[in-house]
Amino acid sequence: MQTVGKKTEEMPATGTFMTDVKILRERARKHIEQGAVTEGYQADRKVVIKLLNEALATEIVCVLRYKRHYFMAEGINAESVAAEFAQHATEEQGHADLISQRIVQLGGEPNLSPDGLSSRSHSEYVEGDTLVDMIKEDLVAERIAIDSYKEMIAYIGAKDSTTRRMLEGILAVEEEHADDLVSLLGGFQK
Ligand SMILES: [Fe+2]
Ligand SMILES: [Fe+2]
Repeated sequence: MQTVGKKTEEMPATGTFMTDVKILRERARKHIEQGAVTEGYQADRKVVIKLLNEALATEIVCVLRYKRHYFMAEGINAESVAAEFAQHATEEQGHADLISQRIVQLGGEPNLSPDGLSSRSHSEYVEGDTLVDMIKEDLVAERIAIDSYKEMIAYIGAKDSTTRRMLEGILAVEEEHADDLVSLLGGFQK
């Protein structure tokens, strides 16, 4: 039997986060392509549930990372930055709840298992040594979330407007989060 040529995946480069982001995006895109193959059905429920479970894992990892950063924030400006981390953690939890609820509405089950959580997530759990590192890591995670939500929204299109509207609402908040983090970083560069 002929072996079908398997696309060799690039190894994640350590030290630069941009390559990691690229691989994560490719992974998210792969599932979208699988779903698009289905014909004659408005939305492929299984694919939508799978995408939502990946988004759920991403949100949970973001909650955990922001909580860690909140408790570990110290130094100049720590108080105002920590307050921002705490607010983001709360909002990411809200997103996780919305997504879980939608998964159930679609007849699926929210995967909240800690096993494999970080590999299901698009964004990473990076602790960061300094306040600036923490903010940068959070910004990277937000940018990953923004791109994956945009891709999900584009995939779902008009096929499932309820899920799409929910994702659009979440995306708008992730964009605000990214903006908040850029402003915080600016405060350190003055
Ligand atoms: Fe979120
Ligand atoms: Fe966010």
